[in-house]
Amino acid sequence: MNNHLKGYLLPLFLSTMDFTGRDVVSIKDFSKKEIEAILSYAKTMIPYAKGEKTTDLLKGKVLSTLFFEPSTRTRFSFESAMNRLGGHVIGFAEPSATSQKKGESLADTVRMADAYSDLIVLRHHQEGAARLAAEFANAPVLNAGDGAGQHPTQCLLDLFTIITEKKRIKGKTIALLGDLKYGRTVHSLAYALAMFGAELTFVSPKSLAMPKEVISEITQFNIEPYATASLEAALKDADVLYVTRIQRERFPDAEEYNKVVGTYKVDTALLEKAKINLIIMHPLPRVTEIDPEVDKTPHAVYFTQAFNGVPVRMALLSLLSGRKLA
Ligand code: CP
Repeated sequence: MNNHLKGYLLPLFLSTMDFTGRDVVSIKDFSKKEIEAILSYAKTMIPYAKGEKTTDLLKGKVLSTLFFEPSTRTRFSFESAMNRLGGHVIGFAEPSATSQKKGESLADTVRMADAYSDLIVLRHHQEGAARLAAEFANAPVLNAGDGAGQHPTQCLLDLFTIITEKKRIKGKTIALLGDLKYGRTVHSLAYALAMFGAELTFVSPKSLAMPKEVISEITQFNIEPYATASLEAALKDADVLYVTRIQRERFPDAEEYNKVVGTYKVDTALLEKAKINLIIMHPLPRVTEIDPEVDKTPHAVYFTQAFNGVPVRMALLSLLSGRKLA
């Protein structure tokens, strides 16, 4: 799979770029060339991410993981990434076990993480929390998801997965399906895919349509997304189907959630109408939107996608620390 990244991405960019000390709050903080350089570097991390090679690159460095919302992939893969680089991890997965419970502010918690560590990963339910944290910390802050806002490191691993599986993004038809209103992964990804020249289709119930602000940002890249509620209509031309969960926890009103839950289900019968080389992605967790039978088909790449979080996050931790593999 590594060969696909060769030639498409240009490692030479990396030598002219310095990411030391930068925050990663939004995918919009990066240029296309910077993204290409990060993804190219992530490719070199794969044997380390798999444990086939070892390194002490970040020996003596400490990463704080501050998770105010549940997570499996993002937290575990950041922790795996830091451990694989020879660094250490402190943090929490449950804020009620910290002094937040006594009323401490987010700003003060971030100040403490800044005092005790060299890099800070933050997941929070409030949109804008990571940007706020970056103002209170000298250490780089990596946004691991802020409410319905952004999830930039997920976006990088999604781009990495598409390039690895499909060789390029430009000209590929990519359908984003499900909760496009509250889904932070698709907000980040739609912007980046437009930047890379993909043909975009947005598939959702009307009440969960992609926000106007995201669409308006995309148009700067001369991309005109096609929006539909019909998965069947979108599927026939798609090279990539990016499925998302309809997120109960983001709905202010349970009745609104009940109206749309279960709207889409990707199963093997549906996939008979798809291109033979269609890949199906999902940031996970999934609930009912992808039938487990699909896991056995060559279309399913979502578990590989989840693994890709490790090399991509290793690359980021290395670059933000100003220590690169030779
Ligand atoms: N993709 C993702 O953000 O998964 P988690 O919520 O498990 O971290």
